[in-house]
Amino acid sequence: MSRLDGKVVLLSGGASGIGAETARLVVREGGRAVIADRDEERGRALAGELGGSGHFETLDVTNEAAWQRAVAGAVDRFGRLDGLVNAAGVGVRNSIEDCSLADYRRVNDVNALGTFLGCKAAVAAMKGSGGGSIVNISSVLGLRGASYAMAYCASKGAVRLLTKSVALHCAQMRYGIRCNSVHPGYIDTPMIAPALAASMGNMDGRQWLEELHPLGRLGRPEEVAAMILFLLSDESTFSTGSEFVCDGGLTA
Ligand SMILES: NC(=O)c1ccc[n+]([C@@H]2O[C@H](COP(=O)([O-])OP(=O)(O)OC[C@H]3O[C@@H](n4cnc5c(N)ncnc54)[C@H](O)[C@@H]3O)[C@@H](O)[C@H]2O)c1
Repeated sequence: MSRLDGKVVLLSGGASGIGAETARLVVREGGRAVIADRDEERGRALAGELGGSGHFETLDVTNEAAWQRAVAGAVDRFGRLDGLVNAAGVGVRNSIEDCSLADYRRVNDVNALGTFLGCKAAVAAMKGSGGGSIVNISSVLGLRGASYAMAYCASKGAVRLLTKSVALHCAQMRYGIRCNSVHPGYIDTPMIAPALAASMGNMDGRQWLEELHPLGRLGRPEEVAAMILFLLSDESTFSTGSEFVCDGGLTA
């Protein structure tokens, strides 16, 4: 038996980084991965790499109708939905003084509102079919603030508490749906490429970010995927509404 035998998992943001690595792991563990992303080229390429266990759906997470189409497409293709990973996200550096209204809205629309719409669509699909597991990717910046990431912190803090509300509602309703948040430190994916290329005082960006983590390095997407796999699997059936941190000791 593999750890996800027969389970169907939809991954927003599945075309890149943490979402893509998780999709690969889902399939290695016997599951089916529905890559749902606005990046059609990379999403289709990854679904092709995953063969008959992969499928692509075009998704802009800020669009409610697109969520309904993506979930319906997953159920049409594989017959059911057992897991949702809300991994689509955008990052932007700004403080309270230099964040524009447009940037604040863009980051919160994708990261927070997109997660809300994903949870809503998944609960509707899962509640009549025995339940499932929702994994929302927050951040260490959803647990603590950073002067240089104001809008991002606001969005990831929202994901943290939205997750608990979804978990409690689904528990009260006895839907069999669990919902947890994952809080990565800095992970080496395309999202942090601009920060790696920038300099912080007299340090280059990579060195500065590495030194934030007591383990002295960035995380790898497969290290976060391993935590997500646990939450998608039946190994975590008593965990809901909880925060799972994967940060090389950063918040310790
Ligand atoms: N990389 C890190 O250091 C880090 C740390 C903590 C949390 N996170 C979070 O992990 C998640 C995955 O990030 P990543 O590092 O893999 O980034 P990434 O940039 O490699 O991947 C993000 C994916 O989201 C997709 N996306 C963005 N906006 C979208 C939209 N509106 N609709 C659909 N898809 C959209 C992109 O096309 C891309 O495929 C994000 O939520 C991010 O905030 C990342």
